[in-house]
Amino acid sequence: MNGAESRTSPVGIDQERSRRDFLKTAAWATAAISAAGIGGFGVATRFANADHEPVPETVGPLTINYDTYLGLGDAAILSFALQLERLEGTFYANGVDAGIFSGPALAQITAIRDAEMAHVDFLTAGLQGAGAPVPPAPNLTYPPGVFQDPAAFLNLAATFEPVGIGAYGGAAAALESKEFLASALSIHNAECQHRVGINILQGVQPPNDLLFEPTLPLQAVVDAVAPFGVTPG
Ligand SMILES: [Fe+2]
Ligand SMILES: [Fe+2]
Repeated sequence: MNGAESRTSPVGIDQERSRRDFLKTAAWATAAISAAGIGGFGVATRFANADHEPVPETVGPLTINYDTYLGLGDAAILSFALQLERLEGTFYANGVDAGIFSGPALAQITAIRDAEMAHVDFLTAGLQGAGAPVPPAPNLTYPPGVFQDPAAFLNLAATFEPVGIGAYGGAAAALESKEFLASALSIHNAECQHRVGINILQGVQPPNDLLFEPTLPLQAVVDAVAPFGVTPG
């Protein structure tokens, strides 16, 4: 690949711009984690559950963050996950319907849409199976113009995916049910594939670039999705 080709993504997005936006996303995630570390653990403390063993904040290179989800309970964690999936699923469905992608890019966005919708159905069934209430669909809102501009769409996708990954990674170990834990692990892996798929569409090189997927504390996830109309319920 020559220099000119290496700067052009499969959907014609300037790679340098994508890279800058990617780094902004990474900076946001870092800031969110550090902000939560300083002042955002109020949620965690409120929900802290004495039944759980104390856990270290870090294990090697990993920041665990699962203690921030303790005490919510499986149903509340799944319920919040369902709202995150609705946020993502509706986003990708709108992206497919907008007609701004074609060819392999459209196939990838469509595949991610189908995965998010499958996650919505799966979590809905999980809540129903557990006898827990299924929350009403949130009144979702997205930034103006995001469904008219492929670059803007992909930038937002590149923000959503790490939030979902961080939420599942953070909450997984707080789940009591091993069935739910296994389910969360499976969905988490699918979300990681989405992150890499979006990286490919943005021309990020290399698209698969992490040693460990970061987790996010609950408050960082809450803050990240609140502007789009999603609340933990
Ligand atoms: Fe999903
Ligand atoms: Fe996703």
